[in-house]
Amino acid sequence: MPSRYNPRTMTDQYAVIGHPIAHSKSPLIHQMFAEQTGQDIRYTAIDSPLDGFAATIERLHEAGYQGCNVTVPFKFEAFQLATRLSERAQAAQAVNTLKFDGDTILGDNTDGAGLVRDIQHNLGTLLKDKRVLLIGAGGAAYGVALPLVHAQVFLKIFNRTEQKAKALKKSLLQALERSRSPAIFDAINQPSSKVDVYSLMNEGQPFDVVINATSAGLTDSEIPLPPGIFAPHALAYDMMYGRDTPFMKFSRAQGAQVADGLGMLVEQAAEAFYLWRGVRPDTAPVVAALRQLCQVPPSC
Ligand code: ATR
Repeated sequence: MPSRYNPRTMTDQYAVIGHPIAHSKSPLIHQMFAEQTGQDIRYTAIDSPLDGFAATIERLHEAGYQGCNVTVPFKFEAFQLATRLSERAQAAQAVNTLKFDGDTILGDNTDGAGLVRDIQHNLGTLLKDKRVLLIGAGGAAYGVALPLVHAQVFLKIFNRTEQKAKALKKSLLQALERSRSPAIFDAINQPSSKVDVYSLMNEGQPFDVVINATSAGLTDSEIPLPPGIFAPHALAYDMMYGRDTPFMKFSRAQGAQVADGLGMLVEQAAEAFYLWRGVRPDTAPVVAALRQLCQVPPSC
């Protein structure tokens, strides 16, 4: 235990580390969680130099911090730096939450759990046996793919560059093989029916849930999707928040229920808070407060 740290007298400290970090809503979210649950914590935002992430983590660890969240562009470095990884962090090949436990640095990834909980708990769409289309095969898609399969969906992956969708499928199947959860037995034994790559050329049934995990919304780019992709009462979920993306506009025009990623942001934070504190905050008032503060309409 570092000598400067006295656990009996200090408030437990956490931080979010990124570059840039000024825009981060995590300090506000965790402050609301702490007030609501009566947990005595301090949570700050730390801007790390691009070449100084490992040194930043070492400094926080030595100063007695209990853990931290990690955001762009350090999630892969955090994955490499962790001395122990959760199954979902291994599958994501990225870490967004670190927990310091003596000399151990546990790396976890709470993004997928946050997405699944937002869809099921907040938006009321049960995922078991649903046909889900995951669009994208970059870091964001890797972060949520395993938790989606654990929710027992039929998962199709669609990406502009099909090769990367195939690589994500392969990596996901490897993660499933490592996992011993009975929930994914089918996915291992019938991978082509439970997890597969989607091609625009495919004739197929429509989807119950379509998730946009691409960064196309950042540049207001359209994603070429065929009309008729949505089943009746389908949910279109954009992991981005704060803007009405072309994907959201397209989905709304096709009659889908549309959701942005603000709920996922709060839920992934709640999952990290639970990992650190063993207490699960009520996320609904926090999502509502953020929508009001940031003036993000319910399906912005
Ligand atoms: P992130 O961490 O946000 O996932 P990333 O790893 O760079 O970022 O991945 C970006 C994802 O968005 C990729 O799936 C990318 O598709 P490609 O693999 O074909 O590059 C997808 N993407 C970005 N811009 C896009 C666009 N205009 N149309 C369709 N897909 C897009």
